[in-house]
Amino acid sequence: MVAFHPLTVIDIRRETEEAVSILFSVPPALRDAYRFAPGQYLTLRTRIEGEELRRSYSICSGINDNELRVAVKTVPEGKFSHFANAHLAVGDTLDVMTPDGRFTAPIEPEKAKRYLMIAAGSGITPILSLAKTYLHAEPKSQVTLIYGNKSAASILFLEDLQGLKDTYPTRFSLIHILSRQPREVPLFNGRIDREKCRALFTGPAAPVDPVQADEVFLCGPQGMVDDATAALSEAGVALKKIHTELFTPADGGAAIAKARAQRAERLSTEDRAKLRHVTVIYDGIEIELDLASDGIPILDAAMERSADIPYSCKGGMCCTCRCKVLVGDVAMDVNYALTKQETDAGFVLACQSHPMTDEVVLDFDVK
Ligand code: FES
Repeated sequence: MVAFHPLTVIDIRRETEEAVSILFSVPPALRDAYRFAPGQYLTLRTRIEGEELRRSYSICSGINDNELRVAVKTVPEGKFSHFANAHLAVGDTLDVMTPDGRFTAPIEPEKAKRYLMIAAGSGITPILSLAKTYLHAEPKSQVTLIYGNKSAASILFLEDLQGLKDTYPTRFSLIHILSRQPREVPLFNGRIDREKCRALFTGPAAPVDPVQADEVFLCGPQGMVDDATAALSEAGVALKKIHTELFTPADGGAAIAKARAQRAERLSTEDRAKLRHVTVIYDGIEIELDLASDGIPILDAAMERSADIPYSCKGGMCCTCRCKVLVGDVAMDVNYALTKQETDAGFVLACQSHPMTDEVVLDFDVK
């Protein structure tokens, strides 16, 4: 079960003008709790101007680095990212949730696998962890990384990537795509969109054959992830091989507002006024709630009752609030994290869920 612990910051490294990486000290008694799989993230919690803020940031360390480091890029209006880049200092303590996330695949040292990874901007963070780990722990595996940025100056972890090329010259291929700095080869100019992916996968002299990949990892803004998924699918890559992680939804939250408005329209006046009985089970404790179908999400209602249930992004992306519907039915506003198999099995995101039947039971303890 995920849990917060206070961890001390022991190093802050400026990676680019807009991003830092933060290294935490993990006391020996908590080493097992903070053991992570490559591609996972940490949720950081602090109070800024009296407001509790939680944000999830991907771990950039490989499992062989024996350290716990995340990268934080400043985003416009981002209170936490601004705090981390401008004010956080070595020696400070942050509440850090134990690692979580399913953007990963098993490490199989005896196998010779081919990994294709596509990242844009700070989407490189979990990808770096994955690439370092597989190259180190699977001596026969190959990694191809397509990495999109505006310019050379904005490339996050440029030195680490160069280091991987030097260490694994025959097993690691790196293709930089720059959108605002011309490169000699036109194929490597522009943004990673559907057309660019098509050109990279199937165009004349295409440098990447995605069909050969055993696992594909995509991380970045939603537009890039959707375009790359579509191009991979067109090229014949099975969807089950594709792992995705979103850093920013394309619409900045408009989809949530739209889904709520549409649901409210569909409900009769009587149903809108009706309070549904919701039971939330977390860590063996039951929390009883009375909630309307077009009211606040179940997660928010549980938090108003001081329930300490896990969450991070509240945007349907991170999956920290995943739970299972045991009784009744709920409607989710958006879902960028759960697979079809999971939703078919009854899993939902509590931060996006609203009760649609008179009785609902949600269980966070079912994995
Ligand atoms: S808190 Fe991130 S998906 Fe619900």
